[in-house]
Amino acid sequence: MLKIESRDYFSGMFTLPGDKSITHRAVMLNSGANGEATVENALIGEDCLSTCRCMRALGTTIEIDGTTLRIQGTPRFRRGAELNCGNSGTTIRLLTGFVAGKGIDAKLYGDESLSARPMERVATPLSALGANVQTTDGHAPVYVQPSVLRGANVTLSVASAQVKSALLLAGISAEGETVVTEPVKSRDHTERMLRAMGADICENGRTVTVRKSALKSVDVCVPSDISSAAYFMSIGALKGETLCKNVGINPTRTGILRAFDKLGVQYTLLNKRSAGGEETADILVKKSAMRAIELTAEDIPAMIDELPLVALLCAFAEGESRITGAKELRVKESDRIKTTAELINNIGGECIAQEDGFIIRGKRKLAGGNIDSYLDHRIAMTGAVALIASENGGQLYRPECCAISFPDFFNALGLRLY
Ligand code: S3P
Repeated sequence: MLKIESRDYFSGMFTLPGDKSITHRAVMLNSGANGEATVENALIGEDCLSTCRCMRALGTTIEIDGTTLRIQGTPRFRRGAELNCGNSGTTIRLLTGFVAGKGIDAKLYGDESLSARPMERVATPLSALGANVQTTDGHAPVYVQPSVLRGANVTLSVASAQVKSALLLAGISAEGETVVTEPVKSRDHTERMLRAMGADICENGRTVTVRKSALKSVDVCVPSDISSAAYFMSIGALKGETLCKNVGINPTRTGILRAFDKLGVQYTLLNKRSAGGEETADILVKKSAMRAIELTAEDIPAMIDELPLVALLCAFAEGESRITGAKELRVKESDRIKTTAELINNIGGECIAQEDGFIIRGKRKLAGGNIDSYLDHRIAMTGAVALIASENGGQLYRPECCAISFPDFFNALGLRLY
């Protein structure tokens, strides 16, 4: 348990850890490429370490030195590996496609939370490519058997970068052409990295086409994760002024900035630059009076992991906000519609959970109180922001799970976890 005091004013400059999605992909794709690669500013959090552990179990050599990784691509992968994906949805889903593409067998499994998350969403579309993937009643453990893949045309019913990426990773090993279409475009880090590694890939709106390709290793300098920066950006908007340095601003990830625009949050992007196919900027956010917003299905994928935080900002805004089309939140590390609504209500806000989103009646001032993380890193970090911005602060239970994506989170806030 961590006691968190409210603050009247909060300001500072922050360099947040590397992007989780890009780190996973840099490790996985370089493991299957020809050559050796260095990944700088990698996120050394539990989820990305799960990907490293699995790739090592498949035979890749990965050296970790601070936040730098050295990866030696493997021409031949170990068969019959048991791959422990921990808490990481990105690891298990991308790796299912990767393993299917390598024509080897493997068992992929994870912790209790991961074992409750849907896996048929990768197994079914992969079977359209000829993959033999069996789930356990729709969940992990997932079993992949060797098979020869052929390209296919797949239309996804959910906008999920994890599912899309699993298909692309299988597709680059399949004979012929694999075409994947999503209902709304999700994050495109896999597409960008595959292109940088020489893959035959083309994008047209919500459709991505890949053909069989050999990948060349690529060095990656990972930008800071906008999903981690979002907590500090939000404290700036609520309580003072924050500057987050070198944050990835790939447009498929900047939904939080579009939510800021609607809420009336004042922010500026400074030092915009581009490195390794991903754009970055320093993001300066100033305290702002916020107004209620509406978000619908089209808005959701680009801020999927920031939605608990966006809902919290709505609780501090003037008026009634509505968020719809966000049913995917129900199948994250916790049921984030339920856990976010509970978080807001526990500190004196008014949030009504809906089947696919929230109605939030903003109050400008919230009392504070006790919050549980439900062992979900995003809920733990949203809870910390909520208590700092509240009138009286409160207790945050089970905060340690922030190590999944941001091990140093409380330290960066000036709080001591132990
Ligand atoms: C991720 C995609 C998102 C996101 C997750 C990371 C990725 O999941 O919630 O934290 O790296 O591809 P979905 O693709 O299932 O929406």
